[in-house]
Amino acid sequence: MKISDHLLFGGDYNPEQWMDEPGILDEDLRLMKKAGINVVSLGIFAWAEEEPEEGHYDLDWLEEIIGRLYQNGISTILATPSGARPRWLAEKYPEVLRVDAYGRRQKFGERENHCMTSPLYREKVRLIDRKLAERFGKNPAVILWHISNEYNGECHCPLCQDAFRKYVKNKYRTVDALNHAWWTKFWSHTYRSFDEVESPSPIGEGSVQGLSLDWRRYTSDQETDFMKAEISALREGGATQPVTTNMMYNFDGINYASMAEVVDVISWDSYPEWYGDDIFLEMEKHSFCHDYMRCLKDQSFLLMESCPGGTNWQPYSRLKEPGLLSNEGMNAISHGADSVQYFQIREGRGSFEKLHGALIDHTGRDDTRTFLEASRIGASLNALPELAGTFSSSRAALFYDIENRWALDLSAGPRNENNGYMDLLQDFYHAFRRAAVNVDVIDETHDLSGYKVVAAPMLYMFRADVEKRLRKFAEDGGTLILTFWSGLVDENDLLFLGDKPHGLTDAAGLRFGEIDTFPDHRRNCMVPASADPSAPGFCLRETSSFRYCELDHLDGAEPLMVYGKDFYRGRCAFTLNHFGKGRVYYLSTWPERGWLCDMVKELLREQDIESLVDDLPEKVAVSERQNTHSRYLFLQNFGESEKQIRLPASLRKTDSPKPVRIYTSGAHGMEPDCGQLPVDAAAPVEIAPMSTMILKIS
Ligand code: GAL
Repeated sequence: MKISDHLLFGGDYNPEQWMDEPGILDEDLRLMKKAGINVVSLGIFAWAEEEPEEGHYDLDWLEEIIGRLYQNGISTILATPSGARPRWLAEKYPEVLRVDAYGRRQKFGERENHCMTSPLYREKVRLIDRKLAERFGKNPAVILWHISNEYNGECHCPLCQDAFRKYVKNKYRTVDALNHAWWTKFWSHTYRSFDEVESPSPIGEGSVQGLSLDWRRYTSDQETDFMKAEISALREGGATQPVTTNMMYNFDGINYASMAEVVDVISWDSYPEWYGDDIFLEMEKHSFCHDYMRCLKDQSFLLMESCPGGTNWQPYSRLKEPGLLSNEGMNAISHGADSVQYFQIREGRGSFEKLHGALIDHTGRDDTRTFLEASRIGASLNALPELAGTFSSSRAALFYDIENRWALDLSAGPRNENNGYMDLLQDFYHAFRRAAVNVDVIDETHDLSGYKVVAAPMLYMFRADVEKRLRKFAEDGGTLILTFWSGLVDENDLLFLGDKPHGLTDAAGLRFGEIDTFPDHRRNCMVPASADPSAPGFCLRETSSFRYCELDHLDGAEPLMVYGKDFYRGRCAFTLNHFGKGRVYYLSTWPERGWLCDMVKELLREQDIESLVDDLPEKVAVSERQNTHSRYLFLQNFGESEKQIRLPASLRKTDSPKPVRIYTSGAHGMEPDCGQLPVDAAAPVEIAPMSTMILKIS
């Protein structure tokens, strides 16, 4: 769903910290308008001001601020304050405080550390949420509800233990079924009744992986259930606006695909670590997450938080070079965001976040480097309202499945020193992006229709009948890329009996045999299986192979590459099997990035998926959004020199009915509508260092 007819620009605003400085709000309004801000998130951590004493609510101040912002053209995303409770609540009702896996109840302090089960906490949250909804649920200034903040963590208190027991009882019905699913005869850990079930603990059970997996599922479901209760409270109070919650980068504590079902709009917080060696690859990790977030509901999402300067919590607070802030925000937009929002608008004076980057810093000036560049981004976004709600269309998809990640992480062996799942996904993602195509990032439950190429690396756990859908996808003409360590276990982490990858051995034309794993510095290699010159180019050159070498048995597949070393030299390492109308490629090892890029590019070409541009230069990213009348091609240069880009022939037609409009955005702001595509069809487009160019093609 589209929540606005323009792009949103703003961020978290904490006026409750400034109540004793009346001039500040006036000044903030002036500065926000100057920066082009049209939305703020309010009240995320304001419970102590909203309910200073139990049952005594004070929302007048909030109403006044929301009203004043609105009069100045700024809408509000209003938060429920459950992420941080007031002191009185914790002191009076200690059951709201979390208990850790050692059984220790926490003291009052910090945030996002409440018990998700406590009926008392749920009731107190219901009351404040309801009050907020009664007051603001129909206020036109409030466009969206921000439910809590970055839900995360787990609680092991007696209430949660009970809830977990109910959860597993409901799932397995009989204790025998539970014992079987968790394989508890191992080490004599058989349960005699559901009452004996307890959460995993470093001083208790840690080896029953089925238990740990279900505990993760339960924790995730409990967070979502808590959120559902908050949404019901808002609806009870009469709120009609859509709801969101801010999700996190690379967070493995919640199954966001399930949580997504409960919210209307996806939003998330992106904080790239720019201090590393390669800005481009760091951005790409966040692009992967943007694509994942977009695919949770297959609709545009919001960038709820990002940092306008340096954060205060990363190991180093690296300053952003001119243009990087703009490119970071535009990168989110290019992948489907309808907003660029910051944490925070005004920097606090004390406590933990006093040194966290902000639009307005302690000087209060409007000529700081950050303020100026952010204002230019605001102007750029305000110049392109039509981008709101445009969609991203992809014919290629990459699987990232959180439950698969849990199962891999919980499992002992075969490679305990970083199983590498997320790194392998990033390598694949890089390969798709270097091939200059849009790519969706989807989980095992996602519909596969519409895709022509699907990569499912290291899909160790098959759940939700994924093998059946992957078969059908290939049979119907799709290209499926599978890798080593796939189709080993079912949704309870029980190994499938028989040949693997489970249910796909005929589709892949091979079966799993053994797997060799080794430290990062060691290598095997893949060499061409034959010297057939008609084989695709990437199959004719040797490449290193890392970390995993699976020894598979061919059963119909054609070996394209074989291992070059060790006792398994000559055994298949990369194969192709024609299956139905489609093709299944199987990669038994982890190749070099460059080889993977060539492989993905070739498989996309085989399926006639056109690249968005020809020959994407180093450090340049490309993606596309569209609506029914126009396509918007985003070219982003993260490098230090100007880059030239050739558009594909289909875009270079000089007889297009309408000219292509070009917008550029960088440290100096956007120059909208500043040109047309060169009439000379062969001439490349030039893009300045650290800047974004948007081509609107009608
Ligand atoms: C986020 C959080 C914000 C703020 C920010 C600082 O994780 O939601 O409230 O603390 O980090 O970077």
